[in-house]
Amino acid sequence: MQAIQGEIPTPCRLTERKDSIRQTVKLHDILIIGAGLAGMRAAVAAPPDLDVAVMSKVHPVRSHSVAAQGGINAALGENDSWEAHAFDTTKGGLYLGDQDAIEAMCREAPDDILELERLGVIFSRDEQGHIAQRPFGGAGFPRTCYAADRTGHAILHAMYEQLLKRRIAVYEEWYVTALIVEDGVCRGVVAWDLIHGGLHAIGAKAVILATGGSGRVFLTSTNAVINTGDGMALAYRAGAPLADMEFVQFHPTTLKGTGILITEGARGEGGYLLNTLGERFMKAYAPQQMELATRSTVSLAIGQEILEGRGVDGCVLLDLRHLGRQRILERLPQIRQLAIEFAGLDPIETPIPVRPGAHYQMGGVRTNQWTETGIAGLYAAGECACVSVHGANRLGGNSLLETIVFGRRAGIRAGEYARTVTPQARRNDQFTAEQARVQRLLAQDGSVRPWQIREELGQTMSLNLGLVRTHESMSAAISAITALTHRAASITVQDKGRVFNTDLVQALELQSLLDVGESIVVSALARQESRGAHYRSDFPVRDDQHWLRHSLIHRTPEGTALTYEPVTITRFPPA
Ligand code: FUM
Repeated sequence: MQAIQGEIPTPCRLTERKDSIRQTVKLHDILIIGAGLAGMRAAVAAPPDLDVAVMSKVHPVRSHSVAAQGGINAALGENDSWEAHAFDTTKGGLYLGDQDAIEAMCREAPDDILELERLGVIFSRDEQGHIAQRPFGGAGFPRTCYAADRTGHAILHAMYEQLLKRRIAVYEEWYVTALIVEDGVCRGVVAWDLIHGGLHAIGAKAVILATGGSGRVFLTSTNAVINTGDGMALAYRAGAPLADMEFVQFHPTTLKGTGILITEGARGEGGYLLNTLGERFMKAYAPQQMELATRSTVSLAIGQEILEGRGVDGCVLLDLRHLGRQRILERLPQIRQLAIEFAGLDPIETPIPVRPGAHYQMGGVRTNQWTETGIAGLYAAGECACVSVHGANRLGGNSLLETIVFGRRAGIRAGEYARTVTPQARRNDQFTAEQARVQRLLAQDGSVRPWQIREELGQTMSLNLGLVRTHESMSAAISAITALTHRAASITVQDKGRVFNTDLVQALELQSLLDVGESIVVSALARQESRGAHYRSDFPVRDDQHWLRHSLIHRTPEGTALTYEPVTITRFPPA
């Protein structure tokens, strides 16, 4: 019965050749799902005497955090303060963020940045040799620390070194299909071993979800193809509500065609946005902040320019030429490389065509500021969670910060909890149900492939839940998702094998995408106002009287159910 037993064979690979679907008896103190920044930070922060393991569907350094470009915020400057950072975050989020969590994040940010530096992150420096900071949108102070335009890469690799140093076990390329929740307590996961094939139940006293975002629910997105909302769907199916799912951030500048992220750091370094008339059109929308207004403002402005015929082939232009060769090579080398390779132009000489694209999910598994969900033993941190520090519109540079602060908090809190748990014999019913689900997927023959439904879902979401939403567009999306969910029940997995069956994984991911897509649309349709990333042309005004509250979507046997809860306001009254 044991696929994994005894000593961990190597520090970073916890697998053993087994060909059949079988059950594993393994109990960790803490099992972290996801090996991006939130997950690895949690692992590093967890008490070293506990048995901690990380499980990820990809190798840790392939996690999407590696793609983060522009930076991470912290009030390090002499004239800056964590209170100013908290104010900018609250205001930028249109007062929907919970201020207790925002305060915790902004207060702890400076120490976390210094800790990252001690852990080996090579930040760019200013002329005095201090950690350099660049201006970002919606921030009253240049407080975004960076490593050129590869900040996520720099932090993720340093964090992975720490995992190796601490000999923390990693289940590389394992896909979690379900949480094991018994009597309201999370006791582990059921997971598929991609490398060898096989389903396993892995026990844990505490489970931390750190699976990142769900950008792939849209057709084009800055997100990696792995960002399919798995952690959100796992918690949702297990009974934990998702909060504020209607708030999906569109990044103002993604590359024409591919939708690859072109960092806000490019505007932070002084880049201009131009329309077809060569005008810096942001002066009409945000004359003070110009290109460094908050993301929802800049994205809507770009959308408006394109809609009114002042775009350039469905885009606007990001002009960096005036920054000069030296600055572009030093501060934005990756952006230059991406523009050369994916748009065939060199930004030293030619402006980059950009347009808004799906980038970040502000909602997620509802947690308190210590990352606790409503299920005992289950924690969530990073983009898959909604501790609610971003409200309706995240400031650039706050997502990496969220992963670091709340990843650390998750590791600490899960460690405290795990010490109180006495292991109990687990029932087998959830494993058996997952076994039947996987066997059914492998056995059934139909004509529809998982990618076809995934693509149609993406088209529906991009068409109907983009920058501007209406009752009609969202109702159309709900009907389409209902039909797609129905068709998804009979998809066919053509690869019947077990080893590296990516077809099977896509079928499982599809279920996450459908659940997340539905939760976005249902929450968005109900919210009859415009706030931050949720802009409705039929309800164009922010309505604090009725809608200054969090949406919570629950999965029930009868379908989705919405409830609402108040926003925590401490020091900044809504203005
Ligand atoms: O533009 C960027 O570099 C993205 C940063 C972020 O989303 O925080």
